[in-house]
Amino acid sequence: MLDYYVVGADLAQGELALAHDEEEIDVRRVGRWAFHFGFYMSSSHKQIVAKCRLYVHSRKIDILEPLGRGDQGEVFATTRRTAIKALHHDVDYRRERDVYLRLRERGVNAIRGCAVPQLQGFDDDLLVVEMTIVRPPCLVDFASAYLDTRPEFPPDVVAAEQMRHRETFGETWPLVAEIIEQLAGLGIHLMDISAGNIRVSVGS
Ligand SMILES: Nc1ncnc2c1ncn2[C@@H]1O[C@H](COP(=O)(O)OP(=O)(O)O)[C@@H](O)[C@H]1O
Ligand SMILES: [Mg+2]
Repeated sequence: MLDYYVVGADLAQGELALAHDEEEIDVRRVGRWAFHFGFYMSSSHKQIVAKCRLYVHSRKIDILEPLGRGDQGEVFATTRRTAIKALHHDVDYRRERDVYLRLRERGVNAIRGCAVPQLQGFDDDLLVVEMTIVRPPCLVDFASAYLDTRPEFPPDVVAAEQMRHRETFGETWPLVAEIIEQLAGLGIHLMDISAGNIRVSVGS
């Protein structure tokens, strides 16, 4: 009976990071067949925690309290007062990483008074992004954002989305719309527009 689960992989090396439980993680050389086993499954909470542990272990820091979680990943504070987000899927991870790289390249640390996390590090095997901790008013979560190419939607879909955003954000919608517009000017096209990700009000 297989009592390990896969928390990370390096296909080129044929290496897998395996875990017994949250405390015990090691990297082993295994057959390539096993790579697919871990890679295509959505990670469980335990796998996410294990990935975070591998990440912090290699950087000689530790995990502190959870900061939040969503559909695409889980976020924890670290002992160097950064946030690490471990993502379930490679495509979401690459979107998030690439947006943070763009923001860093352009020196963006706030948009319309909302703090933007600063990229501190990332790991392409573990699908972990490390960034500064932000508090509202702030923006988080670029895992669904498109870089440079904006997907096109039919006008009725766009109109329905706008209506939904107006309801979600109420009187803060004009500010949120400006933030979305400024990000688009940086080639960052937000798709996951929610009150959890765009926290314009202090205490939100
Ligand atoms: N840099 C950060 N600083 C503080 N809290 C954060 C940070 N990033 C994320 N969070 C918290 O974690 C929650 C989930 O993160 P998020 O990036 O939205 O994950 P998902 O992509 O799964 O929706 C956020 O709503 C927020 O509360
Ligand atoms: Mg989110």
